[in-house]
Amino acid sequence: MKQGKSAPHVIPATGMSAQRINTSFDEMSAHDVQWRDGKAFSLAYNAGPEVLAVAEEAYRRFSGANALNTAAFPSLRQMQGEVLDMAGVWLGSTAESAGYFTSGGTESILMAVKAARDQFRTESSITHPNIVLPTSAHAAFDKAAAYFGVELRRVNVLPDWRADVAAMAAQVDTNTIMIVGSAPQYPQGVIDDIPSLAALAQSRKTNCHVDACMGGVSLAYLARLGHQIPPWNLQVDGVTSISADLHKFGYTSKGASVIMYATKRLRSFQGFFTDQWLGGVYASSGMLGTKSGGAIAAAWAVIHFLGDDGYMRLTRSARVATDKLSQHIDAHAELSLLAQPDALLLSFIAQDPQRLNVYAVADEMWNRGWYIDRQEPPQSLHCTVNAVHESVIDAMLIDLDACISNVIDTGRTGDVGAYGTLS
Ligand SMILES: Cc1ncc(COP(=O)(O)O)c(C=O)c1O
Repeated sequence: MKQGKSAPHVIPATGMSAQRINTSFDEMSAHDVQWRDGKAFSLAYNAGPEVLAVAEEAYRRFSGANALNTAAFPSLRQMQGEVLDMAGVWLGSTAESAGYFTSGGTESILMAVKAARDQFRTESSITHPNIVLPTSAHAAFDKAAAYFGVELRRVNVLPDWRADVAAMAAQVDTNTIMIVGSAPQYPQGVIDDIPSLAALAQSRKTNCHVDACMGGVSLAYLARLGHQIPPWNLQVDGVTSISADLHKFGYTSKGASVIMYATKRLRSFQGFFTDQWLGGVYASSGMLGTKSGGAIAAAWAVIHFLGDDGYMRLTRSARVATDKLSQHIDAHAELSLLAQPDALLLSFIAQDPQRLNVYAVADEMWNRGWYIDRQEPPQSLHCTVNAVHESVIDAMLIDLDACISNVIDTGRTGDVGAYGTLS
């Protein structure tokens, strides 16, 4: 039973009308963040109503199709393959590279870890594998370690929030199956020194995974727009796998990411196969069994609808909004940027946390409809900026300033909340 409810929710005795169902959805979502209007600076990405309509129509048409078996749904095999080919260009794939379509950044990371573990189990008999990664690498690596029985060796980042390659080198040993870098990392939005991490991995004969869940689409365009983007993808010698989310800056429906390996051999350790049951041969590439065609079709549709020039335009818009936000924070008497954003995400702290509690600012912003991510350590706020924000960033900054004054005047405090929740 749900806590705080007097009675459990029951199935209606007779079916509800579609109209009533939609009314219920409207009621239930009335207090959700209005992400379509650009109110979410985390969790949701939006390139406008036209792109959304294309994604939703594709999702609707293929929601019941099942990529568990692409012999029955060859359309999904074709779409996944073509999405991987197109994403491969952003990720610096070569003729040797091979990947899979997954349900999100977490699944891509889980699979990269699982593949590395099985590769080393097979090729080197490692039984106590470890991964060396900076404290900034995403929590999905902790999940992977817990799921697959791998030790995580987290190493403090440098003062500029980038991975400390020398300190990481000291943690690498003969049981290390992977070294991780991010492009960019989520908490402060900076890109790790991927060439040095990859060189370290090569010199120690281990894998280097680049988590480009955030940057996999946008970095390619930011570079073409003239921004200084250090080498970050499969073009870097020693990078063995890379994850990139299409449901973030690819602007497609949720449930879409890719994991790309430098070689087909490395990818071969990701798959699962059994015939030890009464149902025959079962093979699957990722965590899922049944895999809706919805997210696959939406990704295929949105990438084709936007095209290369569409992504260039959206990345430019998102960067304009990012620059306005970062410049405003930089110039603000009460705030400090933790790092100049390398891509489209940033975080900031109060110059004096005793005077200004940033979580209370997030509360005040939420009262005005804006959702901003809270994080620690240090006590900071985080914004992931996307294309939809270009048209609302001025209004957001006016509200941000008003909320800051309000919190200082009232001395209010707030809580850190959670990046992800259990219920
Ligand atoms: C750098 C990075 N890696 C991985 C993930 C996990 O992605 P997902 O939430 O799609 O599982 C995120 C999510 O924000 C991220 O920022």
